[in-house]
Amino acid sequence: MNASATGRLAQLVIFGGSGDLARRKLVPAVARLAHAGLLGAGIQVVGVGRREMNDDSFRTELRAALPADLVDAFEAIARDVHYRSADVGDLVSLQKLCAEVDALAGRREFGRVCYLALRPGLFGTAIALLCAAGIVHRHDHEGVGYRRVVIEKPFGHDLASARALNDAVHRELGEHQVLRIDHYLGKETVQNLLGLRFHNAIFEPVWNRHHVELVQITVAETVGVEQGRAAYYDGTGAMRDVVQNHMLQVLALVAMEPPASLDADVVRNRKVDVLKALRAVDREDAALHGVRARYGPGTIGAANVAGYLDEAGVAPGSTTETYVALRAEVDNWRWRGVPFLLRHGKRMPRRFTEVRVQFRMPPLQLFNQPEGMSSAAYHRALRDGTLCQMRPNVLSIGIQPEETIGLSFGVKRPGPEMVMAPAALAFDYREHFGTEPPDAYERLLLDAMSGDATLFLRADEIEASWQYCDSVLAAWREPGTVPLLEYAAGTWGPADANRLFQGCEGGWSRG
Ligand code: BG6
Repeated sequence: MNASATGRLAQLVIFGGSGDLARRKLVPAVARLAHAGLLGAGIQVVGVGRREMNDDSFRTELRAALPADLVDAFEAIARDVHYRSADVGDLVSLQKLCAEVDALAGRREFGRVCYLALRPGLFGTAIALLCAAGIVHRHDHEGVGYRRVVIEKPFGHDLASARALNDAVHRELGEHQVLRIDHYLGKETVQNLLGLRFHNAIFEPVWNRHHVELVQITVAETVGVEQGRAAYYDGTGAMRDVVQNHMLQVLALVAMEPPASLDADVVRNRKVDVLKALRAVDREDAALHGVRARYGPGTIGAANVAGYLDEAGVAPGSTTETYVALRAEVDNWRWRGVPFLLRHGKRMPRRFTEVRVQFRMPPLQLFNQPEGMSSAAYHRALRDGTLCQMRPNVLSIGIQPEETIGLSFGVKRPGPEMVMAPAALAFDYREHFGTEPPDAYERLLLDAMSGDATLFLRADEIEASWQYCDSVLAAWREPGTVPLLEYAAGTWGPADANRLFQGCEGGWSRG
């Protein structure tokens, strides 16, 4: 991975440029990068949309969405921010656009990143037309005048559509020109999964089925279906929206073998190995290994919120899930038999994303036995829960909003008796470094411009993730397998999900 400055003019052409993503994420990220001096010889941003607008009105719209601390950084690049109107479905319109964006760069040498923040159904044809119009060069060789394409999620709706899209993309572009984005990979704490595991020697010897009892990954959100997203979300659901991409990427980073180098393909090869080792489920497994649900009306904090079916834009009688809990199995030598418990839900009581690596219990409990109690009575009391049990050591990695690493262990309580109490070591990014971590899009845009694909998804990674998710989704479609349950908004989801811990210590994390 190389986050160094690009050293040449970079032109970022955002298709869907008048949309929310450009306003809220992309342009602010560019402003911050430029302010930090990370954009080498300079940057040009061109928003492209069907709406008629000129540079000034585009800049005014962007300014209105900027956080106060970014105003100066934006003004420093404002004259390099442009808007051109074009239709990505129309060759003639794109040919005209090509002349316009070339003219903006003038005689300077430049590389171009085309960012497709478009409706997913448009990706394939848009890429073909961008190539036909000359905005992107077919099967380009990497060089000073690179032409790359960033494709926003969702990449496909299932394995078949992801394959078809990969085929369409590869007809026009070399894989090195394609950057399939998953913004989770741009998060500092997600990148640090690699750092934590492979820059520290103490984890590797215990990072396997001999020492790990289970791995728990949670993406809990308090938001429901956000305004304007119902049409997308209702046809997508929690499994496709978050599990297939963000959660399986985190799983892959937690479970992958150590890479021999940080070369993009070496890292991605190791991730693909894990994704391919995910055991596909069938009808029976799906029922044992998964729970799906949708939120009903409830309370978040002090606010009453509507149930999913009452959200504006959700189809009457919709069966879309807003909550998924899975017990995934990674069938390889390192992980065979260790459950990976994945849980994602909207309208939960608290927003947090976390990885918990739970280690096996010591084989014998030596401590906390009341004086005079016989060994048999002691073990009965442990079994029926009347005595405090040992707790497993847990390495918890807070991805967001708290960016932390914690390790729990037992420690002797001061006093004459040998009584062990729970304790923890804790690390906090903000406290330690005294700074806010950068937004995920900053890192990803910088990498897109410098041509580092490590944090982008390769075609085979996406297909392997879909292969697993398709098996779950297909089993759900069979009547009577995994019913769609309901949970009240503001709760932790259906109690039925607790059964996924069967045979293991502990329960679902509350962050
Ligand atoms: C997006 C999903 O990809 O990720 C959203 O479409 C979800 O539904 C979001 O809310 C979560 O991202 P973050 O960075 O806010 O955790």
